[in-house]
Amino acid sequence: MIRLKNVVGTYTTVRGTVDALDDVTTDFQTGNIIGIAGESGCGKSTLLKLLYGNIEYPLAMSKGMIDYGMKGPDGRDITTENISEHWFKKISYIPQSSMSSLNPVVKIRKQFLDFQDFRSRKEIDETLEKVVAFLRELDLTPEVLDAYPHQLSGGMRQRVMVALGTFFQPDIILADEPTTALDVVVQKGILLLLAELQRRMKNTMFLVTHDMGVHYQLTHKMVIMYAAKIVETGDSEEIFSRPRHPYTKMLIESLPRIGDAKKLQGVEGKPPSLWDELRGCRFAPRCSRAKAECRERCPELAAVGNGHSVACLYPES
Ligand SMILES: Nc1ncnc2c1ncn2[C@@H]1O[C@H](COP(=O)(O)OP(=O)(O)OP(=O)(O)O)[C@@H](O)[C@H]1O
Ligand SMILES: [Mg+2]
Repeated sequence: MIRLKNVVGTYTTVRGTVDALDDVTTDFQTGNIIGIAGESGCGKSTLLKLLYGNIEYPLAMSKGMIDYGMKGPDGRDITTENISEHWFKKISYIPQSSMSSLNPVVKIRKQFLDFQDFRSRKEIDETLEKVVAFLRELDLTPEVLDAYPHQLSGGMRQRVMVALGTFFQPDIILADEPTTALDVVVQKGILLLLAELQRRMKNTMFLVTHDMGVHYQLTHKMVIMYAAKIVETGDSEEIFSRPRHPYTKMLIESLPRIGDAKKLQGVEGKPPSLWDELRGCRFAPRCSRAKAECRERCPELAAVGNGHSVACLYPES
């Protein structure tokens, strides 16, 4: 289990502070592909940044704690304070744009070697052999090792990023819209590759995407976020067949289905500004089921059976 307890992620700006992740308590079962969905600005990337321990100004984890349930090679618990020592080895981050995370002036070969301490030339050669074999499995030729990031196509660069993020078989992989910048065919290839690698390595993969079809096809668990809160979690199959939060229901109904002539339901309105004082359920202003109580009381994420949790005072049945 990876446990979040009362986690608050806060950005400091000239206007003041804003909580982009607001008092989130939840458990993530390891060994799954965990899909994270929700509208732009709801806090998906903030959640991943906190998990990765990439917490730099203007972001801070102002409250709460994350229990990774993992120990480093020295036997010490991995915590938010020391997790950066375990980047790539225990936890990796695959961002939307590989251009901004690969070092532009360093050849790919060196980017693979930089995470390790070598005692001899022999050790370097052995590692490079493994890297080459792994690249081949990912449909990349060894020549990419001699390239600088800008010399590769977007699709190849993202494959290299996936290779870097998975080579050391980390326990946790955080993929934040890993294919958004690519064309549809390349997108599909990379998503299937990620799913295949997860299946092989049995690690925990967090996958952020706006594409509910991808969530349906690839994920085992789902996390639905709305305005800095998690509003529903559970097995993907169950979430898609029986969504309990009205927001999740709307997201799923926005998915096109083959042969369905019915007009697609968009999600009308927009989420509240996190800068406003937020009272009651944050979805209530857009919810057709909202009652007076919903505008007063903020629902907690609560179990509704089958490992399914929902933050709604009057969940769908
Ligand atoms: N650098 C920043 N400075 C100030 N506020 C920020 C910053 N980054 C994010 N925020 C705030 O945090 C909120 C959540 O941002 P986040 O990037 O986590 O959303 P997201 O769900 O990943 O959105 P998207 O789908 O567009 O990637 C935003 O609505 C914004 O108010
Ligand atoms: Mg984001």
